[in-house]
Amino acid sequence: MDFIPYGRQFIDDDDIASVVDVLKSPFLTTGPKIEEFENEICNQTGASYAVALANGTAALHLASLTLLSKGDIVLTTPNSFLATSNSILYVGATPKFIDICEDGNIDLDLCEQELKKNNKIKVLYVVHFSGNPINQNKLKHLKETYNIKILEDCAHSLGASFDGIKAGSCQNSDCSILSFHPVKHITTGEGGAITTNNYETYQRLLSLRGHGMVKSLNMKPWEYEMRELGFNYRLSDFGCALGISQFKKLDNFIKRRHEIAKIYNEAFLNTVVKPLYPFNKNSSYHLFVVMVDFRKLTITKEKLFFKMKEANIGLQLHYIPINKQPYYKSLGYGNEITPVMDKYYEQCFSLPMFPSLKIDEQNYVISTILELLNEK
Ligand SMILES: Cc1ncc(COP(=O)(O)O)c(C=O)c1O
Repeated sequence: MDFIPYGRQFIDDDDIASVVDVLKSPFLTTGPKIEEFENEICNQTGASYAVALANGTAALHLASLTLLSKGDIVLTTPNSFLATSNSILYVGATPKFIDICEDGNIDLDLCEQELKKNNKIKVLYVVHFSGNPINQNKLKHLKETYNIKILEDCAHSLGASFDGIKAGSCQNSDCSILSFHPVKHITTGEGGAITTNNYETYQRLLSLRGHGMVKSLNMKPWEYEMRELGFNYRLSDFGCALGISQFKKLDNFIKRRHEIAKIYNEAFLNTVVKPLYPFNKNSSYHLFVVMVDFRKLTITKEKLFFKMKEANIGLQLHYIPINKQPYYKSLGYGNEITPVMDKYYEQCFSLPMFPSLKIDEQNYVISTILELLNEK
């Protein structure tokens, strides 16, 4: 069996042809594909505006510039990739890590307690972890009751929805961000985007993406003005062309992810391997996370990772609590009381989940893991 990673892109001949077309065209960057891709992002998410960017981290950075001021306290989750809270630090604001629920998402009831305790807290960053959408009714309640700004990190959740509210639609938030890294639902190589329904935010993001430069019709043909400090966070036209082509396959990708999730769920019934949440058709299953209580077993999690790797299967762990990272500890973090996250971290790991995972590969993953855990 060839190596089976935990995630992998799916690229077909149409994708390759669409990239080659752009490579043969006059515009490798700053050409027509950007707007076309941004329109597709709006179509998919239902948001009014989208800004395509170099990667999801750049998206978080620019979104944070529009949402935060120096010194703001931002409620956020320890169960994410580093970039979510790093972006808060980039702009001189302060993340405050809140414990998660059993399903891996930030605990919005605990967030509400924090908002009640401290009326200076005015921002919340959530992640729809693994593609499992956060309760939008609760987001709406928090936004309206406490007049807070909300960012939805949808890096895992393109194609997910809660009660018909699509991830990235920003129905109950100010901005959402997406990532198009190869392991995500669709890829542009590296890439990301911000969606928003606010026109002013959209205009500012366009300027921040390109060095803070603004051009307008009443300027001389060569003129531009730099009005604030911006960046070069552009996405290439061939990246956008790949994204447009990938979008055509998104529904099928998610269908496949659902099929894979159902098979895992059935296979692990009445075993020590507990899927993080029961099958949820509204999740876009970026990850398939399981929990195993290793205290009851002879094998450790570390040993399981090694043994699976020996069997050519790549497990991953999403995530080490961000607040426990050395850099965050050096800033005084790490001692937050997060019992659910602590237990989650001890027990969790992610199994291979990607559209081209073959049935015999998945069966091999299932039988290998159950054997190693002495379940067979
Ligand atoms: C939840 C989350 N947010 C943000 C990012 C950053 O995205 P990128 O890798 O495109 O910079 C990732 C990437 O893994 C992620 O998983």
